[in-house]
Amino acid sequence: MKRRNFIKQTSAFTGLAALVQQPLLAQQSSPTANFPVVISTWKNEKANEAAWASLQKTGRALDAVEAGARVPEADPNDTSVGYGGFPDRDGHVTLDACIMDEKGNAGSVTFLEHIMHPISVARAVMEKTPHVMLSGEGALEFALAQGFKKENLLTETAKKAWLEWKKESKYEPKINIERHDTIGVLALGTKGEVSGACTTSGLAFKMHGRVGDSPVIGAAVFCDDEVGGACATGLGEFVLKTLGSFLIVELMRNGRTPQQACEEAIMRIVKRYDYKTFQIGYLAINKKGDHGAYAIQKGFNYTLTKEGVTKVIESDYYMK
Ligand code: GLY
Repeated sequence: MKRRNFIKQTSAFTGLAALVQQPLLAQQSSPTANFPVVISTWKNEKANEAAWASLQKTGRALDAVEAGARVPEADPNDTSVGYGGFPDRDGHVTLDACIMDEKGNAGSVTFLEHIMHPISVARAVMEKTPHVMLSGEGALEFALAQGFKKENLLTETAKKAWLEWKKESKYEPKINIERHDTIGVLALGTKGEVSGACTTSGLAFKMHGRVGDSPVIGAAVFCDDEVGGACATGLGEFVLKTLGSFLIVELMRNGRTPQQACEEAIMRIVKRYDYKTFQIGYLAINKKGDHGAYAIQKGFNYTLTKEGVTKVIESDYYMK
């Protein structure tokens, strides 16, 4: 069997929410439309539920992807995003995030410390500055000026893991070792418009100053309202070297389905690089609400929410 789907209904809350929320959606979109829809990397049911709840309030995909990304950012048990994220090899938690809306607006932050919600800072960069990307100290200054709170994001658990790692001190990315990696979220809003977001603490115990794909528009996230959107997770260096999300959207523009486009973007990596020791997963959605996913290795999964029902689905992959 080429693809195995593991479906898990979320809590009774989700089912109840679906019943309560349906009438609003029915007013705002055609009964046959394949949107609104939320899709995110890995097993992120709570993020999707928050995104879905946001869609009930404003209907806007941009609000939904931000709301979804904020969930793992605030979760101390999530060791690869925001608060609780594993630090770099010098013990600093440094965060990367980006966001893009249906109009082609984009914002991002890189190498940001001490702020729980980099995705909201990225949105503020997009909406309140003439720039796309702010980095490091400048991003922190901007965040504080915008009213974001300065916090210690290094949890005791993350600090302990870092101190353990320091004993061996091997800088070696591993495949799927964490509960999940970077979250990328895509949504079609109630008008069918597309937005995307991505947020991460990056590679665990990375070099100080290392920035991955997650804050780079075109690498971790790309949206074009004529076509759809794509997002990435995994070892960012290879997403950066192939600009995977932009590539997927362009492939869809030229007629590929979301699934075909994700597969072709993975093949660009497989053909050029020694892919056997790392993981990349791509997700894509087109304007009809069709989605696709593909990864290099076994183990990538993603979360889909449609009509208030959330499912975790195992992605197909290249390395059988
Ligand atoms: N994809 C996350 C990172 O490489 O930083």
